[in-house]
Amino acid sequence: MTRSLLAVYPGSFDPVTFGHLDIIHRASRLFDGVTVTVLNNPSKQPLFSLEERMAQLRLVTADLPNVTVDGFAGLTVDYARLKGARVLIRGLRAVSDFELELQMAHTNKTLAVELETCFLATSNEYSFLSSSVVKQIARFGGPVEHLVPQAIAEELRAVFPLSQSLEK
Ligand code: PNS
Repeated sequence: MTRSLLAVYPGSFDPVTFGHLDIIHRASRLFDGVTVTVLNNPSKQPLFSLEERMAQLRLVTADLPNVTVDGFAGLTVDYARLKGARVLIRGLRAVSDFELELQMAHTNKTLAVELETCFLATSNEYSFLSSSVVKQIARFGGPVEHLVPQAIAEELRAVFPLSQSLEK
């Protein structure tokens, strides 16, 4: 009997970018099922609520039948165990990501030895891209349509209207 291979892609996704979406698409071709899980990064103050980020992710992954979206207020490894997932996916953009990602992978390994972290190299065209950069551009009224799906760009414009950016 073959067991289906489930992977969890954890992150803040505040908001989801084309870089995240690229990783989701590629992971969905590697694993039987992928759950994109919105978690809290204790060192970040999110712009969008957990529910808003989940709704955004559901919208932009609606065309991927083996991808589901969830949220969790706790440890990533506890979520993965709860779901019976064996793999955690993380994207690596550059060497600068590596140190923190390796530390996280090793920490998670000490908490759940059965879980493997699988790093996918971010596609070259998105290697500069982060949610923080997107928020910074949107805050000052710059264009973000080339960085995030249209629906997300519209949500950012609603949060940071042009008039607000000009006031500052
Ligand atoms: O998109 P991010 O902010 O790089 O994602 C980081 C995230 C949310 C995956 C990480 O902070 C996390 O796993 N948070 C949940 C709490 C946890 O499990 N911490 C231990 C991991 S070292």
